[in-house]
Amino acid sequence: MIVATKAGTVAFDESGAGVPVLLLHGFPHDRSLWAAQLAVPPNGARLIAPDLPGFGESQRGDVPSLDAWADWTMTFCDALGLKQVVIGGLSMGGYLAFAIWRRHPTRVRGLVLADTRAGADTAEGKAKREDMKALALAEGSGAIAEKMLPGMTGKTSRETLPHVVAILDTMMRNCPVDAVTDGLDAMRTREDSTPTLATITVPTLIVCGAEDALTPVAESEAMHKAIASSQLGILPGAGHASCIEHPAGFNALLSGFITASIR
Ligand code: MLT
Repeated sequence: MIVATKAGTVAFDESGAGVPVLLLHGFPHDRSLWAAQLAVPPNGARLIAPDLPGFGESQRGDVPSLDAWADWTMTFCDALGLKQVVIGGLSMGGYLAFAIWRRHPTRVRGLVLADTRAGADTAEGKAKREDMKALALAEGSGAIAEKMLPGMTGKTSRETLPHVVAILDTMMRNCPVDAVTDGLDAMRTREDSTPTLATITVPTLIVCGAEDALTPVAESEAMHKAIASSQLGILPGAGHASCIEHPAGFNALLSGFITASIR
Protein backbone atom coordinates (compact mmCIF):
# COMPACT_ATOMS: atom_id res chain seq x y z
CA MET A 1 0.00 0.00 0.00
CA ILE A 2 1.07 3.57 -0.59
CA VAL A 3 -0.09 6.51 1.56
CA ALA A 4 0.50 10.21 0.86
CA THR A 5 1.76 12.00 3.98
CA LYS A 6 3.00 15.52 4.71
CA ALA A 7 6.50 14.03 4.50
CA GLY A 8 5.99 12.36 1.10
CA THR A 9 4.63 9.03 -0.01
CA VAL A 10 5.18 6.01 2.20
CA ALA A 11 4.93 2.38 1.11
CA PHE A 12 3.85 -0.09 3.77
CA ASP A 13 2.32 -3.50 4.38
CA GLU A 14 0.01 -4.35 7.23
CA SER A 15 -1.89 -7.25 8.73
CA GLY A 16 -3.96 -8.06 11.80
CA ALA A 17 -6.24 -5.91 13.93
CA GLY A 18 -5.81 -4.29 17.31
CA VAL A 19 -2.95 -2.40 18.96
CA PRO A 20 -0.82 -0.84 16.20
CA VAL A 21 2.75 -2.18 16.12
CA LEU A 22 5.13 -0.43 13.74
CA LEU A 23 7.97 -2.63 12.50
CA LEU A 24 10.98 -0.64 11.29
CA HIS A 25 13.51 -2.45 9.14
CA GLY A 26 17.30 -2.38 9.38
CA PHE A 27 19.99 -1.37 6.91
CA PRO A 28 20.03 -1.79 3.96
CA HIS A 29 16.68 -3.53 4.07
CA ASP A 30 13.07 -2.78 3.18
CA ARG A 31 9.66 -3.63 4.63
CA SER A 32 9.76 -7.18 3.27
CA LEU A 33 12.16 -8.00 6.13
CA TRP A 34 9.01 -8.43 8.24
CA ALA A 35 7.09 -10.73 5.87
CA ALA A 36 7.17 -13.67 8.31
CA GLN A 37 5.76 -11.50 11.11
CA LEU A 38 2.98 -10.06 8.93
CA ALA A 39 2.07 -13.59 7.82
CA VAL A 40 0.90 -14.45 11.36
CA PRO A 41 0.16 -11.26 13.33
CA PRO A 42 -0.24 -11.74 17.09
CA ASN A 43 -3.80 -11.80 18.45
CA GLY A 44 -4.92 -8.26 19.15
CA ALA A 45 -2.15 -6.56 17.17
CA ARG A 46 -2.09 -4.69 13.88
CA LEU A 47 1.39 -5.02 12.41
CA ILE A 48 2.44 -2.17 10.12
CA ALA A 49 5.76 -2.33 8.25
CA PRO A 50 6.77 0.80 6.30
CA ASP A 51 9.72 1.32 3.98
CA LEU A 52 11.88 3.98 5.66
CA PRO A 53 12.53 7.20 3.66
CA GLY A 54 14.16 6.39 0.33
CA PHE A 55 14.16 2.63 0.99
CA GLY A 56 11.94 0.19 -0.93
CA GLU A 57 9.14 2.21 -2.48
CA SER A 58 8.98 5.15 -0.05
CA GLN A 59 9.89 8.65 -1.15
CA ARG A 60 13.29 9.92 -0.05
CA GLY A 61 13.35 12.42 2.82
CA ASP A 62 15.09 15.81 2.88
CA VAL A 63 17.41 15.16 5.83
CA PRO A 64 19.17 11.83 6.39
CA SER A 65 19.13 11.72 10.19
CA LEU A 66 17.47 9.49 12.74
CA ASP A 67 15.84 12.52 14.39
CA ALA A 68 14.31 13.56 11.05
CA TRP A 69 13.19 9.97 10.48
CA ALA A 70 11.64 9.90 13.96
CA ASP A 71 9.48 12.89 12.99
CA TRP A 72 8.81 11.26 9.60
CA THR A 73 7.58 8.12 11.40
CA MET A 74 5.11 10.16 13.45
CA THR A 75 3.91 11.95 10.29
CA PHE A 76 3.29 8.50 8.81
CA CYS A 77 1.34 7.54 11.96
CA ASP A 78 -0.68 10.77 11.65
CA ALA A 79 -1.56 9.86 8.07
CA LEU A 80 -2.92 6.51 9.32
CA GLY A 81 -4.72 8.18 12.25
CA LEU A 82 -2.59 6.37 14.85
CA LYS A 83 -2.16 8.23 18.14
CA GLN A 84 -0.12 5.69 20.11
CA VAL A 85 1.88 2.79 18.74
CA VAL A 86 4.28 0.08 19.77
CA ILE A 87 7.55 0.82 18.00
CA GLY A 88 9.56 -2.20 16.94
CA GLY A 89 12.87 -1.89 15.14
CA LEU A 90 15.65 -4.20 14.03
CA SER A 91 19.19 -2.84 14.18
CA MET A 92 18.96 0.56 12.38
CA GLY A 93 15.23 0.35 13.09
CA GLY A 94 16.17 0.07 16.77
CA TYR A 95 18.36 3.18 16.53
CA LEU A 96 15.27 4.88 15.12
CA ALA A 97 13.09 3.54 17.95
CA PHE A 98 15.38 5.29 20.48
CA ALA A 99 15.09 8.58 18.56
CA ILE A 100 11.29 8.24 18.46
CA TRP A 101 11.21 7.60 22.21
CA ARG A 102 13.31 10.73 22.86
CA ARG A 103 11.31 12.99 20.55
CA HIS A 104 7.77 11.61 20.84
CA PRO A 105 7.51 9.63 24.10
CA THR A 106 3.77 10.15 24.54
CA ARG A 107 3.11 8.39 21.22
CA VAL A 108 4.98 5.24 22.26
CA ARG A 109 3.00 2.47 23.95
CA GLY A 110 5.81 -0.04 24.00
CA LEU A 111 9.14 -0.88 22.34
CA VAL A 112 10.59 -3.90 20.60
CA LEU A 113 14.36 -3.62 20.23
CA ALA A 114 15.69 -6.37 17.98
CA ASP A 115 19.37 -7.02 17.25
CA THR A 116 20.35 -3.46 17.99
CA ARG A 117 22.61 -1.47 20.29
CA ALA A 118 22.31 1.74 22.30
CA GLY A 119 25.79 3.15 21.65
CA ALA A 120 26.74 5.58 18.90
CA ASP A 121 29.39 4.82 16.26
CA THR A 122 33.00 4.92 17.43
CA ALA A 123 35.50 7.05 15.48
CA GLU A 124 36.55 3.87 13.67
CA GLY A 125 32.92 3.01 12.98
CA LYS A 126 32.28 6.48 11.54
CA ALA A 127 35.29 6.12 9.24
CA LYS A 128 33.94 2.74 8.05
CA ARG A 129 30.59 4.40 7.22
CA GLU A 130 32.47 6.92 5.03
CA ASP A 131 34.28 4.07 3.27
CA MET A 132 30.99 2.25 2.71
CA LYS A 133 29.42 5.42 1.33
CA ALA A 134 32.29 5.85 -1.15
CA LEU A 135 31.91 2.17 -2.13
CA ALA A 136 28.16 2.55 -2.68
CA LEU A 137 28.64 5.64 -4.83
CA ALA A 138 31.43 4.01 -6.87
CA GLU A 139 30.09 0.48 -7.28
CA GLY A 140 26.42 0.47 -6.28
CA SER A 141 24.35 -1.50 -3.78
CA GLY A 142 25.63 -4.89 -4.99
CA ALA A 143 29.05 -4.11 -3.52
CA ILE A 144 27.42 -3.16 -0.20
CA ALA A 145 25.41 -6.39 -0.21
CA GLU A 146 28.59 -8.41 -0.79
CA LYS A 147 30.33 -6.70 2.13
CA MET A 148 27.40 -7.01 4.52
CA LEU A 149 25.96 -10.42 3.70
CA PRO A 150 28.42 -12.51 5.77
CA GLY A 151 27.53 -10.62 8.98
CA MET A 152 23.83 -10.29 8.26
CA THR A 153 22.97 -13.84 9.37
CA GLY A 154 24.40 -16.29 11.88
CA LYS A 155 26.60 -19.29 11.08
CA THR A 156 23.66 -21.70 11.42
CA SER A 157 21.62 -19.81 8.82
CA ARG A 158 24.60 -19.55 6.48
CA GLU A 159 24.98 -23.35 6.66
CA THR A 160 21.35 -24.46 6.75
CA LEU A 161 19.08 -21.68 5.40
CA PRO A 162 20.44 -20.71 1.94
CA HIS A 163 17.01 -19.37 0.90
CA VAL A 164 17.03 -16.89 3.82
CA VAL A 165 20.55 -15.78 2.92
CA ALA A 166 19.41 -15.36 -0.71
CA ILE A 167 16.38 -13.26 0.32
CA LEU A 168 18.60 -10.91 2.32
CA ASP A 169 21.17 -10.72 -0.48
CA THR A 170 18.49 -9.73 -3.00
CA MET A 171 16.92 -7.23 -0.58
CA MET A 172 20.27 -5.50 -0.03
CA ARG A 173 21.20 -5.53 -3.74
CA ASN A 174 17.86 -3.91 -4.58
CA CYS A 175 18.30 -1.11 -2.05
CA PRO A 176 18.46 2.24 -3.88
CA VAL A 177 21.95 3.79 -3.66
CA ASP A 178 20.44 7.03 -2.27
CA ALA A 179 18.94 5.03 0.58
CA VAL A 180 22.29 3.35 1.24
CA THR A 181 24.11 6.69 1.50
CA ASP A 182 21.29 8.29 3.53
CA GLY A 183 21.23 5.31 5.89
CA LEU A 184 25.00 5.46 6.38
CA ASP A 185 24.83 9.22 7.09
CA ALA A 186 21.92 8.78 9.51
CA MET A 187 23.66 5.99 11.43
CA ARG A 188 27.06 7.75 11.48
CA THR A 189 25.59 10.93 12.97
CA ARG A 190 23.21 9.27 15.44
CA GLU A 191 23.47 10.20 19.07
CA ASP A 192 24.46 7.87 21.86
CA SER A 193 21.26 6.31 23.20
CA THR A 194 22.94 4.83 26.29
CA PRO A 195 21.65 7.65 28.55
CA THR A 196 18.19 7.18 27.00
CA LEU A 197 17.86 3.62 28.32
CA ALA A 198 17.14 4.65 31.92
CA THR A 199 14.40 7.04 30.72
CA ILE A 200 12.38 4.25 29.09
CA THR A 201 9.26 3.52 31.12
CA VAL A 202 7.10 1.63 28.62
CA PRO A 203 7.04 -2.18 28.31
CA THR A 204 10.02 -3.20 26.20
CA LEU A 205 10.86 -6.47 24.50
CA ILE A 206 14.51 -6.96 23.61
CA VAL A 207 15.27 -9.73 21.11
CA CYS A 208 18.63 -10.92 19.85
CA GLY A 209 19.87 -13.80 17.75
CA ALA A 210 22.33 -15.90 19.77
CA GLU A 211 24.75 -15.81 16.80
CA ASP A 212 24.42 -12.08 16.08
CA ALA A 213 27.95 -10.87 15.31
CA LEU A 214 27.03 -7.28 14.34
CA THR A 215 25.11 -6.43 17.52
CA PRO A 216 26.13 -9.23 19.88
CA VAL A 217 23.99 -10.59 22.72
CA ALA A 218 26.09 -8.61 25.24
CA GLU A 219 24.59 -5.40 23.78
CA SER A 220 21.07 -6.70 24.39
CA GLU A 221 21.96 -7.84 27.90
CA ALA A 222 23.28 -4.36 28.69
CA MET A 223 20.08 -2.75 27.38
CA HIS A 224 17.99 -5.20 29.41
CA LYS A 225 19.93 -4.29 32.55
CA ALA A 226 19.43 -0.56 31.96
CA ILE A 227 15.70 -0.65 31.01
CA ALA A 228 13.72 -1.56 34.13
CA SER A 229 10.55 -2.31 32.16
CA SER A 230 12.24 -4.73 29.74
CA GLN A 231 12.32 -8.43 29.04
CA LEU A 232 14.95 -10.23 26.97
CA GLY A 233 14.57 -13.09 24.52
CA ILE A 234 17.55 -14.80 22.87
CA LEU A 235 16.86 -16.79 19.71
CA PRO A 236 19.09 -19.86 19.28
CA GLY A 237 20.54 -20.49 15.83
CA ALA A 238 19.72 -16.97 14.63
CA GLY A 239 22.08 -14.12 13.80
CA HIS A 240 21.60 -10.41 13.12
CA ALA A 241 18.45 -10.76 11.01
CA SER A 242 16.69 -12.79 13.70
CA CYS A 243 13.13 -12.00 12.55
CA ILE A 244 13.71 -13.77 9.25
CA GLU A 245 16.20 -16.40 10.47
CA HIS A 246 14.04 -17.68 13.33
CA PRO A 247 10.55 -16.37 12.52
CA ALA A 248 8.73 -18.87 14.75
CA GLY A 249 10.80 -17.90 17.77
CA PHE A 250 10.55 -14.19 17.00
CA ASN A 251 6.79 -14.40 16.50
CA ALA A 252 6.32 -16.30 19.76
CA LEU A 253 8.24 -13.63 21.68
CA LEU A 254 6.29 -10.83 20.00
CA SER A 255 2.96 -12.51 20.59
CA GLY A 256 3.75 -13.23 24.26
CA PHE A 257 4.84 -9.61 24.75
CA ILE A 258 1.68 -8.19 23.16
CA THR A 259 -0.54 -10.45 25.24
CA ALA A 260 1.24 -10.02 28.57
CA SER A 261 2.48 -6.43 28.45
CA ILE A 262 0.59 -4.36 25.88
CA ARG A 263 -3.08 -5.31 25.49
C1 MLT B 1 21.53 -2.87 10.33
O1 MLT B 1 21.33 -4.08 10.24
O2 MLT B 1 20.60 -2.06 10.41
C2 MLT B 1 22.96 -2.38 10.32
O3 MLT B 1 23.83 -3.45 10.29
C3 MLT B 1 23.22 -1.53 11.52
C4 MLT B 1 24.57 -0.90 11.52
O4 MLT B 1 25.29 -0.97 10.52
O5 MLT B 1 24.95 -0.29 12.54
